[in-house]
Amino acid sequence: MQDLAKADLERFIAGLPKAELHMHIEGSLEPELMFALAKRNSIDLPYASVEELRKAYAFSRLQDFLDIYYQGAQVLLTVADFHDLGMAYFKRLAADGGRHAEIFFDPQTHTDRGLPFSVAIDGLLSAMGEAEATLGVTSKLILCFLRHLDEDAAFETLEQARPYLHRIAGVGLDSSELGHPPSKFAQVFEAAANLGLCRVAHAGEEGPPAYVWEALDVLNVDRIDHGNRSLEDPRLVKRLAAEQMTLTVCPLSNLKLCVVDDMTAHPLKSMLDLGLKATINSDDPAYFGGYLNDNWIAAARGVGLDRDELLTLARNSFTGSFLKPEEQAPHLAAIDAYAAGFTAH
Ligand code: HPA
Ligand code: ZN
Repeated sequence: MQDLAKADLERFIAGLPKAELHMHIEGSLEPELMFALAKRNSIDLPYASVEELRKAYAFSRLQDFLDIYYQGAQVLLTVADFHDLGMAYFKRLAADGGRHAEIFFDPQTHTDRGLPFSVAIDGLLSAMGEAEATLGVTSKLILCFLRHLDEDAAFETLEQARPYLHRIAGVGLDSSELGHPPSKFAQVFEAAANLGLCRVAHAGEEGPPAYVWEALDVLNVDRIDHGNRSLEDPRLVKRLAAEQMTLTVCPLSNLKLCVVDDMTAHPLKSMLDLGLKATINSDDPAYFGGYLNDNWIAAARGVGLDRDELLTLARNSFTGSFLKPEEQAPHLAAIDAYAAGFTAH
């Protein structure tokens, strides 16, 4: 165990090889790009300026954010728009020492306003290819079902995804959690599993531990997105620790959406102390005040993470990913080499 001096902490985090496993690409739409796309597509935004829009980013719960997030996504109309959105994110990720990302997208947000299914995914796949070629960042795509819509709509989306299944790593479940338990999507997740897709679900962000149990037992997920409220149920904690289930935790999101009152009260350190396999992620970086390293730094400062804990979190980000073990290995070796070569000032 070794504490990093304050000045070394940011430098240590900045250079640490890491992956991001919980990031909604529509949530990386910065106000500047939103205005640029609105102009390019002749769309009127209900805000006069970037500053006015940013001022609206004051949320007291998940739904406050979702309302503004779905509105913002309306400027995305073309394959080029989604490509530009994707590349803007991958550049930020690479600058943060990110080597791999498993990004969420919400096809229903776009098909429900008349865009063909192909538009978003073609643009994102094109950005993913460019990011790998030019930045050396690899990525996978996770198709999220909107849980405020019904299971039939999710099935329709899965059907539309059929021609792209070889390019999609898994399915996820996002949007308004309360009142929309994972079990509502039992059948479509089973269908996704039968198609060979991995499965993740947001659970325990605002919803109770029972939703995390359902995600595990009914949806058979490979990861839990957020999972904060699991800590209310000791039996659930035991299960998550025993299975080494990856939790994709999002510190700045939790703060912005009032899931935690203060970063010093964030459960990330408790999760690690309890033997849970936590990771650090940005969720919706354009809306929650920071990209990957901002989340790492805020969490590390807030709850006081030491060097060993930061290394564990970096390793978890790769071992919790959908990369094959042989693809994870060079990243894990890079973390070890980085740790061995880092000298504190
Ligand atoms: N929670 C649930 N749904 C979401 C989120 C989130 O943080 N971001 C985008 N969709
Ligand atoms: Zn999320």
